[in-house]
Amino acid sequence: MTTVGIDAVEIHTGKLRLDLAETFAPEMGDAPEKYTKGLGLHASSFPDTYEDIVTMGANAAHRLMKRKGLEPDDIGRIDVATESAFDHSKPVSTYIAGCLEQVFESDFHHANKGERKFACVAGTQSIDDAYNWIKAGRNRGRAALVIATDTALYARDDPGEATQGAGAVAMLIDEDPNLVELSTEQGYGSADETDFLKPQQQFPSVDGKRSVNVYLARMREALIDYERVGGKIHADDFRLGPFHTPFPGMVRKAAVLAYRHITRDTEIEEELAEEIGRQPRSEAFDSDEAYLEALSEYTDALKETERYQAWYGRTIDPTLTLSRHVGNWYTGSVHVARVSGLKALAEAGEDAVGERLLVGSYGSGAQAEIHVETVQEDWREEIEAIDIDERLESRYELTFEEYEDVHDAHNFDEESAVEEFTVPEAEFAFDGWGRMGERK
Ligand code: HMG
Repeated sequence: MTTVGIDAVEIHTGKLRLDLAETFAPEMGDAPEKYTKGLGLHASSFPDTYEDIVTMGANAAHRLMKRKGLEPDDIGRIDVATESAFDHSKPVSTYIAGCLEQVFESDFHHANKGERKFACVAGTQSIDDAYNWIKAGRNRGRAALVIATDTALYARDDPGEATQGAGAVAMLIDEDPNLVELSTEQGYGSADETDFLKPQQQFPSVDGKRSVNVYLARMREALIDYERVGGKIHADDFRLGPFHTPFPGMVRKAAVLAYRHITRDTEIEEELAEEIGRQPRSEAFDSDEAYLEALSEYTDALKETERYQAWYGRTIDPTLTLSRHVGNWYTGSVHVARVSGLKALAEAGEDAVGERLLVGSYGSGAQAEIHVETVQEDWREEIEAIDIDERLESRYELTFEEYEDVHDAHNFDEESAVEEFTVPEAEFAFDGWGRMGERK
């Protein structure tokens, strides 16, 4: 049986950095701890004036192809997942392929190109599509390029402003993958929700508090759906749980609910109930809010137990390291979490071959997907080849006034005459409509 999965990854971060504690919090009149402790975020990656979803995606994809020694003929499919698209007709993948054709001697005319949309879960959906395409044998020996690219910007003074971010993750989906094998073990939770949406608008309309509850409710549904077919999930079956991370505080909430779910009806639950002094309520509830409210006393106490903290520290915390310094990248976020977790294992010198990952993807609107991946033989080499630390380190540090200007510029404010803060170096840079993504 052919194994199919993620062979390699490259990450491009927006080249500007906004420090939330030092620069953003004082201007908002907030304690820095609201961001660093409450949301769990220290900084956002922000796009320079010449960066957008095309240039960031093309830069990540180009590095990936170069590192893997690939030519356009090796790629049979390019899917871009984004919720920052500017064109209602022509998919972003065509713009990115156009950029890449400037630097390769051949073209991508043979490649099937598309664009996937379902908020942040679209990156994972694109991987699923690529997996199905290869498993069906329609790839004819070629690999798929999946690029999750977003400028996750909010309107000024929106509560979501602190969670902004920008970056792209390019992933090569192929047979006999080096990094992780994908599986058919999946579960979905999906409902028509309107807590976060962008109808004909640059920045989202968000009911932030409700969006948190919708995320938790859909994740729980996805876990239940997974178990309907895949059988009971056990707490120690997985080495890492990379979840969609709009901000690490969100994953803190999701993780405790997931732990409660996967420990139910087990000896662990009995032992925990004794330690905590209460049982979780298990009756049916009318709404997501009622369910979460009813469970909150139990989960608050659960969070304080040594057993839970040990599980969280081992399974979840390592996946959040990068996110703390880049913010929400929407479609790329869960894929950054996977890299973050595996990077921590590599740095600790752990042998992770054969370990399983419980990946929790989520997109507003709303849909969650739980699926399982298995770490492959050459994972360490692939993870160590990603130079994201150096790239994060070399971001330009914004003052608050500069941040205000560059935010205006990304809102197509004609009055904004802000110049670029960094110099493009051997990379694709936005060069005006019609000549997008010129190689500099
Ligand atoms: P807010 O209302 O300004 O913040 O924004 P808050 O008052 O709720 O405070 C945040 C946390 O900081 C709270 O922790 C506070 O207690 C704590 P919690 O109680 O939730 O655990 N805090 C402090 N902690 C320590 N010291 C202090 C302090 N002060 C406060 N001094 C909100 C929060 C989530 C509403 C906002 O960030 C927002 O609207 N974000 C955008 C929406 C979002 O990210 N939703 C997440 C779920 S939906 C999703 O993930 C999908 C998404 O990625 C889009 C897509 O799929 O396309 C967004």
